Amino acid sequence: MQNNVLILDFGSQYTQLIARRVRELNIYCEIHPYNKLPNNVSDFKAVVLSGSPFSVRGEDAPHPDLSAIRGKKPLLAVCYGAQYLAHFSGGEVAPSNTREYGRANLSFIASGEQFFENIEVGSQVWMSHSDTIQSLPTNAVLLASTHAVKNAAYKIEGEDTYAIQFHPEVYHSTDGKQLLDNFLIKIAGVQPDWTPNSFVDTTVAELKEKIGDDKVVLGLSGGVDSTVAAVLLHKAIGKNLHCIFVNNGLLRKDEFSSVLEQYEGMGLNVKGVDASARFLKALAGESDPEGKRKIIGRVFVEVFDDEANQIKDAKWLAQGTIYPDVIESVSVNGGPSATIKSHHNVGGLPDYMKLKIVEPLRMLFKDEVRRVGASMGIDPELLGRHPFPGPGLAIRILGDITAEKVSILQEVDAIFINGLKENNLYNKVWQAGAILLPVQSVGVMGDERTYEKCVALRAVESTDGMTADWVNLPYEFLQKTSNDIINKVKGVNRVVYDISSKPPATIEWE
Ligand code: XMP
Repeated sequence: MQNNVLILDFGSQYTQLIARRVRELNIYCEIHPYNKLPNNVSDFKAVVLSGSPFSVRGEDAPHPDLSAIRGKKPLLAVCYGAQYLAHFSGGEVAPSNTREYGRANLSFIASGEQFFENIEVGSQVWMSHSDTIQSLPTNAVLLASTHAVKNAAYKIEGEDTYAIQFHPEVYHSTDGKQLLDNFLIKIAGVQPDWTPNSFVDTTVAELKEKIGDDKVVLGLSGGVDSTVAAVLLHKAIGKNLHCIFVNNGLLRKDEFSSVLEQYEGMGLNVKGVDASARFLKALAGESDPEGKRKIIGRVFVEVFDDEANQIKDAKWLAQGTIYPDVIESVSVNGGPSATIKSHHNVGGLPDYMKLKIVEPLRMLFKDEVRRVGASMGIDPELLGRHPFPGPGLAIRILGDITAEKVSILQEVDAIFINGLKENNLYNKVWQAGAILLPVQSVGVMGDERTYEKCVALRAVESTDGMTADWVNLPYEFLQKTSNDIINKVKGVNRVVYDISSKPPATIEWE
């Protein structure tokens, strides 16, 4: 690809952020582990070296051979990358007296440098390193300093090689995006032509070419990823895309019928399969969270398999896998080896079906999936839906699952979620839901003593689910929601609000 940027990962926690910032400039990029250079290095227009938790002086530190890159392509070395270039090219890297972590300000910028165009002295940058560059490598020119770090940025004379000690990818580096723009667009000449529309056009063309007249099976979950994947495939192959939407009986109230209707309205060739009874029967008596997940996964594969078998001559299985699920991450603890995270949103099919896999979103981040969906005209409400776990309400009913408990939780959850929507709070929350607790407590209603169930409400802010903070919902809202739940849902007499953050708690209770 003409305007592709290569990001070499040395195991930094920020590597994905570099990719996201580059994509925000409408430039396509790929992350590859430093020890697995792609075969087509020459196709990339520019290269970025990431930071790393390693010290370049360490024996097990990443020491890749950059001979195919250095001096041949525009190269931006960030943090560890900058130290790596210095250490192996005649400079000196040593432990710094203090660990430099956090905000700093540029106190010097060399004048007339395109690399720092539109960036001024005083600009805030984010530092996170324990080694420091004591002396610059051969042929280097100092470009910027902070008060604590003299060699904060340098370039190599005669090459398009630039190095920075700070992290432009972190939002706290206020001109980080400008710097990436200066390097990638102005210096490296990469065209910012990667937009949701261009992605849709190229992907649809590629899918047509790849799939031809074959039939494709896809499991829709009601979530953003599978929906956008389906619409892309539908654009490419129309009715040859066969979607299956399974009701496991653990979805939100009325979700199966309303989402199915929405899918049909979008022109998708979709079959709704109500397997609620089959799931509930298989789950009967199971209280262990992982046990529930295993049962749901197994029954899903059985149901999906039955349905997919009815689609004669299907050759492909489509999945809504996204980029964070497939990026090969550099293992920090296990030395410089690469591990692959794998994750299947809709379970897999048994091997004997021998379907080939197609994953049209595998190079997109979540926010890009939403933008692509919006560019194809998918309903913003569908694109803005909160994440919902595959096992659904099963992991929000603590203890064993019965049809009655599912129905109680669906009512409670609907009151909470609709209330969030009505009060303009839904889009301010990353994920919300209700949990049915396995306790009963005493209450009074009128003159009568009650002994009924307790529910917990949970609403969190997060960007990726890895960490989360509980949301400070207005007291008036909580008060009204609690009243509505207790008055309207038979069997519930107490509502509590979960004020734990992740870590140490998790988002789900099971
Ligand atoms: P935790 O509870 O680990 O959840 O903080 C993080 C995110 O993952 C979702 N989650 C799941 N999603 N299958 C899924 O598809 C699961 O078994 C599962 N468990 C948790 C959770 O809803 C949150 O978004």
